[in-house]
Amino acid sequence: MAQDTLSVTDNRTDKKYELKIENGCIRAIDLRTIKTGADDFGLMAYDPAFLNTANCKSAITFIDGDKGILEYRGYPIEQLAEKSTHLEVSYLLMNGELPTKQQLEDYTSKITTHTYVHENIKQFMDGFRYDAHPMSMLGSTVAALSSFYPEAKNVKNKDVRRLQMTRLIAKMPTLAAFSHRHSQGLPYIYPNNDLGYTENFLTMVKSIGTTKWKAHPALVKALDILFILHADHEQNCSTTATRVVGSSEVDPYSATAAGIAALYGPLHGGANEAVLRMLREIGDVKHIPEFIKKVKEKDGDKKLMGFGHRVYKNYDPRAKVIKQACDEVFEVTGKNPRLEIAVELERIALQDEYFVSRKLYPNVDFYSGLIYEAMGFPVDFFTSLFAIPRTVGWVTQWEEMITDGEQKIARPRQIFTGQRKRDYVPVEKRG
Ligand code: SDX
Repeated sequence: MAQDTLSVTDNRTDKKYELKIENGCIRAIDLRTIKTGADDFGLMAYDPAFLNTANCKSAITFIDGDKGILEYRGYPIEQLAEKSTHLEVSYLLMNGELPTKQQLEDYTSKITTHTYVHENIKQFMDGFRYDAHPMSMLGSTVAALSSFYPEAKNVKNKDVRRLQMTRLIAKMPTLAAFSHRHSQGLPYIYPNNDLGYTENFLTMVKSIGTTKWKAHPALVKALDILFILHADHEQNCSTTATRVVGSSEVDPYSATAAGIAALYGPLHGGANEAVLRMLREIGDVKHIPEFIKKVKEKDGDKKLMGFGHRVYKNYDPRAKVIKQACDEVFEVTGKNPRLEIAVELERIALQDEYFVSRKLYPNVDFYSGLIYEAMGFPVDFFTSLFAIPRTVGWVTQWEEMITDGEQKIARPRQIFTGQRKRDYVPVEKRG
């Protein structure tokens, strides 16, 4: 009967080894038994950027990149986007099950009563230049939150963990909204506990000069769907950053600030901002062929932003839902003229051998920026709109890491390529 093992022959020594296969993996640490002699450290696996390395076991989000499948705790993203809300999905991600009516009410109440931030935070915001990037402000103020909640260091205590997770989910919209208001030179709007999570956020961002301002229900719904789609995505760059930093048992605010820093990058969450700048640069459908040519020639490392994915080698299921949401939003805001460029860009790319051979399809960031722009958000605020919903993913993955008995402080090895054993040379003799 076939064994779940890998038979390995080390041709350097002709020794044979049996490595256990579990969950489609071998344990990298088992490679260390393969040695050329007693002094040999043993084999390691070399995997820059962790292209083929599982760094954890997780029950939160399942992705099948070839089939374009995304499930949160087993529920297909398409069903959650159609039938659920971001707060209900947040409960699902954190607790593993959809909430009962009472559980959802209690959870919503907890989040709602933690939306305020300490008044001192406004002084942090006021300290930034008028043109500071909102993600820089967000990451800095989230890191600063750890100084307001020293008890958060007690990461092994579930009640303490859950309180900080609730605070982070609840305060991220407030901090993001404050950063926007600072950039616009507008007074801060405080959270309104009578409003739902997403409507409250929109009101803190958009309300001016009246307490009667009300967000359009279709825009609240569309943004809530976008929040659902961005909530978690298994071991992406920013979640890995949160897990790695959190593995030192630092507080979750500091670990989440690391996630925000990673998301800020243009290859990750910063891509939605980069897509809009790309569409603005193209300017007109007639310029697309020239732009595509530059991308294929890798002219200045130009990329088709919003395309490609480390895992999805098929259409990102989130991009499909977002493309549908465009229609509802544009009915209210008027059609975004850049939609035509995006649709034509996608049409050309999906038939061009360069992109097809590299399995480059639209990802979550390709269409989301069109909605954000149509809703009147500044381009540099787009990534903050990604960070708000991804907060529940970061804190849930962080807690799973903290409570995983197999996890330790992350400390990878290296292949040393530098010089060894050199004697010090006095400065007068250096040349
Ligand atoms: C997110 O990981 C997640 O789950 C992330 C995310 C989440 O929810 O957390 O899904 C959110 O970050 C989505 C991705 C957003 N980023 C972008 O849209 C930026 C543009 N995309 C690329 O930078 C790229 O596709 C990545 C970073 C997304 C993935 O890069 P990989 O897996 O490292 O692939 P690669 O760079 O090795 O590319 C393989 C080939 C290369 O060509 P060759 O060297 O073989 O000739 O494809 C090319 C790349 O040059 N390529 C692109 C391209 N993406 C890859 N060429 C043009 N345009 C692109 N967008």
